[in-house]
Amino acid sequence: MDRLRVAVLISGRGSNLQALLDATAQENFPAEIALVISNVADAFGLQRAALAGVPSGVIDHKAFADRAAFDQALDERLRADRIELICLAGFMRLLTARFTEAWQGRLINIHPSLLPSFKGVHTHAQALAAGVKLHGCTVHQVTAALDDGPIIAQAAVPVLPDDDENSLAERVLAAEHLLYPTALALLAGRRPSPSATDARLINPPPLSAEAPA
Ligand code: GRF
Repeated sequence: MDRLRVAVLISGRGSNLQALLDATAQENFPAEIALVISNVADAFGLQRAALAGVPSGVIDHKAFADRAAFDQALDERLRADRIELICLAGFMRLLTARFTEAWQGRLINIHPSLLPSFKGVHTHAQALAAGVKLHGCTVHQVTAALDDGPIIAQAAVPVLPDDDENSLAERVLAAEHLLYPTALALLAGRRPSPSATDARLINPPPLSAEAPA
């Protein structure tokens, strides 16, 4: 089977990366994790990649003059490794519009709330403060606007009377670990054959090139 080549971008512990590694280790899963990139050298997720035998790399944002230069280095590495889809999984860097547009439709994220509610950080505290009875997580396409792209899949969990931020986070995280592989399978399974696809979607032009017409 021709499996979709996926890169996972992380900055930290990588528990969602682990869920994706575990799911894609199954022979009949329609995608493979071909590359893990971290912008933080000591991210624990890099150890998970190594244990799974998946190639990984560090692109340290502090080594670049600005966001555009960091994104260009990232873009070059992803293309060199023939990546077809990028999964952000606890990747704590804002990407430039140039990057998100170049990878439009090929760049997804998991966010710990039921979007469009509770964008940004501290989503569990936001949910508790709002008094919602249902909370959850969302896998969505990434666009230039923060936590704003089209929604692919969501999972809901109850907010219980005794919840604090930690207990709620734990319940949502367990749902994330089921949702992200499910959403990836959905996307990868729907992948059109290259012959039926605009080649630009499979191989978007490099960021250093002129903007496509
Ligand atoms: C997750 O809650 C994810 O939704 C958010 O950042 C957290 C990353 O956790 N974007 P992990 O690194 O996957 O364990």
